[in-house]
Amino acid sequence: MEADLDRILFHEPAILRRLGELAAQISNDYRELELTVIAVLNGSLIFMADLLRRIPLPLKLDCLSVASYHGKTETSGEVIFKQIALPDVMDRHILILDDILDSGHTLAAIRDKLETAKPCSIRICVLLSKKKRRARHVDADYIGFEIEDEFVVGYGLDFMEQYRNLPYIGVLRKELIGEPAGYR
Ligand code: IMP
Ligand code: MG
Repeated sequence: MEADLDRILFHEPAILRRLGELAAQISNDYRELELTVIAVLNGSLIFMADLLRRIPLPLKLDCLSVASYHGKTETSGEVIFKQIALPDVMDRHILILDDILDSGHTLAAIRDKLETAKPCSIRICVLLSKKKRRARHVDADYIGFEIEDEFVVGYGLDFMEQYRNLPYIGVLRKELIGEPAGYR
């Protein structure tokens, strides 16, 4: 899999070091609040597992599954919620976890949907945030790393459902994105 990468951006020790910092900040901010973490599947799975084990607070965990990509590297803008019931978030402080903030469509749709369930507050935590103009405005309250507008994989992030299990984050070679047939 490493041969498919143009270069590695963040090795595992650097990711874990940064997660320690984020976890300390989150633990401090939520130390007296009823926290519910909502992880966006599948991309945030590995990030979520490593981050939450560094947060020594009582919290509830729920997951949301959405689709917006349909197998390409560009978002379609349409965000489909794959489950019927939303987590019960009334009177709770919500922290949404996602792998990456790109166009903003996914997190804006999730934030809007969760707001209808009337939680006490909603904040957003992403492992990665792309430096680009977003289609929808989303303020992430906690960001692991800011990256350029390149397609990255690993540590939960996929290209056509591959590479999620890489223990580091790297930029996928451009020619592979152009020829996706082998990745179906
Ligand atoms: P947005 O709706 O465009 O912000 O896209 C968010 C979702 O697109 C993320 O949760 C990822 O699943 C996916 N995504 C966006 N950029 C990348 C990338 O560089 N690599 C892998 N997945 C990405
Ligand atoms: Mg994805």
